[in-house]
Amino acid sequence: MFQLHPEKQDDWWEVEALYDLCFAPGRTALSSYRLRDGVDPITDLSLVARDGDGILAGAIRVWPVMVAGQLALLTGPIAVHPTRQGEGLGGLLIRETIDRARRTGWHRMLLVGDHPYYGRFGFTKLHDVVMPAPTNPDRVLGLDLIKNAWVGIAGPVEKAGGNL
Ligand SMILES: CC(C)(COP(=O)(O)OP(=O)(O)OC[C@H]1O[C@@H](n2cnc3c(N)ncnc32)[C@H](O)[C@@H]1OP(=O)(O)O)[C@@H](O)C(=O)NCCC(=O)NCCS
Repeated sequence: MFQLHPEKQDDWWEVEALYDLCFAPGRTALSSYRLRDGVDPITDLSLVARDGDGILAGAIRVWPVMVAGQLALLTGPIAVHPTRQGEGLGGLLIRETIDRARRTGWHRMLLVGDHPYYGRFGFTKLHDVVMPAPTNPDRVLGLDLIKNAWVGIAGPVEKAGGNL
């Protein structure tokens, strides 16, 4: 069984190593990372999952961003160690992050990812929200944490100023 905890400062490099293992080389060159530069992830919503021996099995980080003057949660990266994939841990991390975001009063989430996977958590394509180029627009997905949270919100995703 896995224990989920908010990521602490001491977890940072271990989580980075997990992301390096799970993503293609050069992941930090992706344009979505420019929205994260110099902005702290949201500590209550960025989670690590450890097994009974304390070994890191998965992690998710969440950043604040702005869209059309409104705050949103840029969700990810999320990764599960290759030896732990397919056991439901990715789903557990995403659902726990969504629950915590709702409980702490956030209104909307977005991410860049595969709809066949994220659709099961309620994410749908955001037709009017634009991630920095060269992001594939079909992979820009959003989730309402309150009713109609994405209605009428259109425009580029921008970096949030300061730390929240
Ligand atoms: C994506 C990831 C986090 C999922 O974690 P996980 O613990 O394996 O996921 P779960 O066990 O909750 O779900 C597994 C299911 O999701 C499906 N799935 C995983 N990635 C998928 C994808 N990109 N598209 C469609 N389905 C996907 C699996 O086929 C499996 O399907 P099943 O339930 O029908 O058997 C993990 O595969 C991972 O770390 N991948 C590498 C990093 C990555 O791509 N991160 C996402 C960036 S958008």
